[in-house]
Amino acid sequence: MNVHDLATPALIVDVAAFDHNVATMAAARPGDRLRPHVKAFKSTALAHELAVAGHRGFCCATVREMVGMARAGLGHDLLLANETLDVRRLQALTTGAPDARITVAVDSVETVETAARGGVTEVLVDVNVGMPRCGCEPADAGRLAERARSSGLEVRGVMGYEGHLMMAEPAQKAALVEQAMVALLAAHADVGGDVISGGGTGTYAVNRWCTEIQAGSYTLMDTQYGSAPLPFRQALFLLLTVVSVNPTGGWAVADGGLKAFSMDHGPPDVLGAHKVWFCSDEHVTFGPLEGGSLPAVSDRVRVAPAHVDPTIACHERMHVVRDDTVVDTWEVDLRGW
Ligand SMILES: Cc1ncc(COP(=O)(O)O)c(C=O)c1O
Repeated sequence: MNVHDLATPALIVDVAAFDHNVATMAAARPGDRLRPHVKAFKSTALAHELAVAGHRGFCCATVREMVGMARAGLGHDLLLANETLDVRRLQALTTGAPDARITVAVDSVETVETAARGGVTEVLVDVNVGMPRCGCEPADAGRLAERARSSGLEVRGVMGYEGHLMMAEPAQKAALVEQAMVALLAAHADVGGDVISGGGTGTYAVNRWCTEIQAGSYTLMDTQYGSAPLPFRQALFLLLTVVSVNPTGGWAVADGGLKAFSMDHGPPDVLGAHKVWFCSDEHVTFGPLEGGSLPAVSDRVRVAPAHVDPTIACHERMHVVRDDTVVDTWEVDLRGW
């Protein structure tokens, strides 16, 4: 099928850019030194490509993602890098996927008890390294590890996600990440275990302390990460059709809006020398940049999203394209709750 025959809005993955991203990260963080985070792309088909590239362990953000990965045969070493209090769903996960290796992040007595009651056998102590997100204070990590051990859980180590530093100024990033990781290493000294998990697409190159990096966005990228000096290419686009043009006013309207891409990192880029005026529920309204021209009704445009994770969560599938040929379709099968 030709890309022009796809019904729009459609998510497309430029496979050449995707392959470049996967190879670039695999060279920097080979094998188990990367634990890709599936939250970015929510697709077992894409995760399978990463397993083929040598990354056998994965991070998930939801129990739903854990279940889907285990069912797809990708349960070699799954980390729920997030807190849950859902005993019932953990039980369904651990009994439904007895062959999968399941590790869960814990940051409180309640999450420790949930893991134990849910049939989980291994945990990581999630540590706050400077961002108001989940994670216990570094000084509490050792006590929590003891509590987990006394509940019969194996403590594999610590995790600490320095999310607030992903877009830090390049000149300061390494020092800021070091500061965050000093806190994580102090916690690790009290907790023990082999695993020090953290990092992301924005810090993988400077985070020397984690034994494994949790990046996921690097696979497909977005315009926010694209504005940082990273070696990855934009691989994910939303294909839209121009459904209305107003030559008098100087604008055009394409058929995808807030229900097809996320705006939390700002508006997307409409490729081809266009400037986005605004986005509404089903539409993006845009005009030509200085010296450019308006598209015609029925033209196709490619849009690069500003934030990959919530954009993909709006879609059921991604079409994998090489030049203009659709070579594969990846279901976004880890959506939902
Ligand atoms: C716990 C955790 N680890 C790692 C990441 C890294 O993801 P990214 O590749 O988008 O930097 C995220 C992103 O939100 C996260 O929540």
